[in-house]
Amino acid sequence: MTLININDFESAAREKLTQMAYDYYSSGAHDEITLRDNCDAYKRIFLKYRVLVDVSKRDLSTEVLGHKISMPVMIAPTAFHKMAHTDGEVAVAKAASAADTIMILSTLSNSDVEDVVKATSNPVWFQLYVYKDREVTKDLIRRAENAGCKAIVLTVDAPVLGTRERDVRNKFNLPKGITVKNLTPARKENLPEIEDSGLSAYVQKFLDPSLSWKDIEWLKSITALPVLVKGIACKEDALLSVQHGVNGIVVSNHGGRQLDTCRATIDVLPEIADAVQGKIEILIDGGIRRGTDVLKAVALGAKAVLVGRPVIWGLAVDGENGVSSVLEILRRELDLAMALSGCNSVEKITKELIV
Ligand SMILES: Cc1cc2nc3c(=O)[nH]c(=O)nc-3n(C[C@H](O)[C@H](O)[C@H](O)COP(=O)(O)O)c2cc1C
Repeated sequence: MTLININDFESAAREKLTQMAYDYYSSGAHDEITLRDNCDAYKRIFLKYRVLVDVSKRDLSTEVLGHKISMPVMIAPTAFHKMAHTDGEVAVAKAASAADTIMILSTLSNSDVEDVVKATSNPVWFQLYVYKDREVTKDLIRRAENAGCKAIVLTVDAPVLGTRERDVRNKFNLPKGITVKNLTPARKENLPEIEDSGLSAYVQKFLDPSLSWKDIEWLKSITALPVLVKGIACKEDALLSVQHGVNGIVVSNHGGRQLDTCRATIDVLPEIADAVQGKIEILIDGGIRRGTDVLKAVALGAKAVLVGRPVIWGLAVDGENGVSSVLEILRRELDLAMALSGCNSVEKITKELIV
């Protein structure tokens, strides 16, 4: 079957993955209400389009933190890519390079950060989880910097792990030979073997639930890289992000994997864009599966979107080529949506499009 959209890729990936891996990638917290609503919320938004605009040439490129990318679509940090494909994060980095966009690499990567950065000619940003052991955290940041990562994306919505019941039932753990590669020097590369989700136990054992706004100062004091905060889901925290001098925020609820029944990200974006008033850059993720979703997110104030699961589905289906196909589907769909709505450049995508 020809795979023509992101949903086709999910179905094909499901066929290839073990039940434990598919459940890990696809699941959300508890009743998965936010997981579903991240997608459904886009379907509730309707577009007003304009005609008789010359759209014979369309420019999808944009800039994020000063980096030019070929379209407002970037790669969200997701853990454990080697469960989807033996080439893991390196394959994703190569696809990011081919698509001329930015990849955010998870702390919980199965590949060494150095190998990932080498695989792409585009920037790699490093997603950071803060370990209770701050020396381990510092070493991780140093390593990401030395490897050539261009920004730190601090994830703030996972002080503890949301309960993904499918992982609990499956007693989720990593297959033999696959580890949290960047934590090997700190001997924190394996998930505990327990009668529950091994990832949940790992987070509880090693990550720091005491993280708070004062740690933003700490983080900024130990790195010269730009800092973004990922997991902002209301205007109050967006304003605090501005006050704490971060360079950008990612409006995110972790793909519906943390607090179930929290609002869909696209529903929260307008209040955040209104509060931030362009002072820092806003990115968004969660539920983006169509070019029109990208159009709506940009119209409502995002500089770019991040995609999480779609990249994993591409990776599972056909490694680097699969990820490239997924990114090109999103590019084609966004290009079409721009043409049909009367936008010949990303700057022309404004709130006017939203009814
Ligand atoms: C399988 C999986 C693993 C993830 N791992 C991480 C992670 O290690 N760090 C992080 O900040 N976010 C992680 N996320 C959240 C993503 O960065 C992103 O917020 C989410 O996937 C966006 O939603 P989408 O999958 O609907 O595009 C993960 C999400 C998934 C689905």
